[in-house]
Amino acid sequence: MLIKIKNSWELSENEVTAHSVYLSRREILKTVGFMGVGAASSLIMPGIALADDGLKVQPNKYDGHDIRNELTDIRAVQGYNNFYEFGMEKDDPARNSHSLITEPWTVTVDGDCENPGKFAVEDLIDFNALEERIYRMRCVEAWSMVIPWVGVSLSEVIKKLKPTSNAKYIYFETLVDEEQMPGQRRGVIKWPYREGLRMDEAMHPLTIMAVGLYGKKLANQNGAPMRLVVPWKYGFKGVKSIVKISFVEKEPNSSWMRLAPNEYGFYANVNPNVPHPRWSQATERRIGDFRRRDTLMFNGYGEQVAHLYDGMNLRRYY
Ligand code: MTE
Repeated sequence: MLIKIKNSWELSENEVTAHSVYLSRREILKTVGFMGVGAASSLIMPGIALADDGLKVQPNKYDGHDIRNELTDIRAVQGYNNFYEFGMEKDDPARNSHSLITEPWTVTVDGDCENPGKFAVEDLIDFNALEERIYRMRCVEAWSMVIPWVGVSLSEVIKKLKPTSNAKYIYFETLVDEEQMPGQRRGVIKWPYREGLRMDEAMHPLTIMAVGLYGKKLANQNGAPMRLVVPWKYGFKGVKSIVKISFVEKEPNSSWMRLAPNEYGFYANVNPNVPHPRWSQATERRIGDFRRRDTLMFNGYGEQVAHLYDGMNLRRYY
């Protein structure tokens, strides 16, 4: 007999709230009106999310701790962003990203794999197998959010592309287009925005390629049409609006490593014990909360991912 062993972060059938009975938080918020992110957050109740808005989602996975009742208000998730292609301030991406055209969208795949080429998003992601994953996101600037992402395990995408045994790392790039991304006229970063993962990190089931959040397609400011989410790493690893995936043999440089190699390493694992050279990483503030809370090792996902770094000096490989 085949017995399916559940991962510790999977919900059992009876813990799942059917998506059809989810309430539309939009409706609730419309009724009470806008009260600011902090006040509105307290309205969020467990099991409540927005209506599907076109995405068929299996709400069946979370991270092992029940954080469904800690969700960050969607207006903060879509209004307080880092996406330097649209400006440096947190509200710039929501204001400026309407110029990004996400349909059609082409992703180029190259490097050490059997299936290189140009792909539509639908070629890479099975929209019938989308899952909701509620993950904490911790940014280096010491704020954090809890977001119900919609996506598939990145491993599912990688399997379609068939990397060869030479492929030790995967490398992602964001679109470069000054017309669509006016922030690229400023050379704050050497465009394109780039990020990479070691292959075993990329294949880990917690790593997802997200196409939505709160049951809806990604807003442009969150990285439409597809972006990476690696919940145990600092938020900057979550490269947005991906147009290129490369399989490579050598550890690739990320945008932040290029910009400030003494401040940002390749791994970028959330680690309260290793301070950023200019500030502590020991605590964080949830957007919508006033109090600070202790930052957890690997952002609370240590049980699932610590083994990836066995024997590594995490002060050196930060
Ligand atoms: N991806 C691109 N292309 N450009 C960026 O500026 N910012 C990163 C990451 N991905 C960024 C990016 C940083 S610093 C963070 S914290 C997260 O996106 C923020 O994701 P969010 O705005 O969806 O919360």
